[in-house]
Amino acid sequence: MSSETENPPKHIAIIMDGNGRWAKSRNLPRWKGHEAGAESVREVIDACIEANVQYLTLYAFSTENWNRPKPEVTALMKLLEKFLVSHTSDLQKNNVKLQAIGRLKDLTQGPMNALSKTISETKNNTKLNLILALSYGSREEIVDAVNNIIKLTKEGNLDNTELTTSSFEKHLYTSNIPDPDLLIRTSGEMRISNFLLWQISYSEIFISEKLWPDFNKNDLFEAIDSYNKRDRRYGEV
Ligand code: FPP
Repeated sequence: MSSETENPPKHIAIIMDGNGRWAKSRNLPRWKGHEAGAESVREVIDACIEANVQYLTLYAFSTENWNRPKPEVTALMKLLEKFLVSHTSDLQKNNVKLQAIGRLKDLTQGPMNALSKTISETKNNTKLNLILALSYGSREEIVDAVNNIIKLTKEGNLDNTELTTSSFEKHLYTSNIPDPDLLIRTSGEMRISNFLLWQISYSEIFISEKLWPDFNKNDLFEAIDSYNKRDRRYGEV
């Protein structure tokens, strides 16, 4: 057994960056980079299963991504739908449970239907929790949580005692998901880009120079090895 599978992080979150640059360097349209990126998604899911990672969260579409040119948004939505339709049986076979976080009501009909279907079909699976962040923004998530708290309080369904960090986070999209232990970002960029701001407070960060479509199983294992060498102190000594 290799070191990755002996002591893996429980939850890995990934900012999948660099699809556009990957396509540009090959004189291809940007959507070709996203298409190649979907292959890396498949490979990283398999690698997480092999390494006994329990939660994998992928930043697949941000709230800001809606501002990209319409053809690119349409291509990403189509790709998501195609991925879900063509991979549900593999997720099922590999005992992967799909979940999604974000303002899901913003999604167009096709991907939304495919998403609901895959979530429902895989809901009893137990090996890996795959969480897709879709129409996701961390500031939006925090505002949605606050609005939910206000609404429940007005309705008399929440007592008026002071919030704590643990009572507050029950209102985030991730209420049933542990915080990421390891955050990976590809393409060498040192940014968080509105991703899981609350949840990554104590995550270890690994920046890969690889563009997302080039990121493979060995790169994931390298990130896990790096994580295993860290000394996590959570602000203590
Ligand atoms: C960032 O690269 C990537 C995205 C905005 C989309 C991520 C989507 C995928 C990996 C493919 C589909 C996903 C699933 C779950 C099937 P970028 O376009 O910002 O790259 P750039 O910075 O080089 O332009």
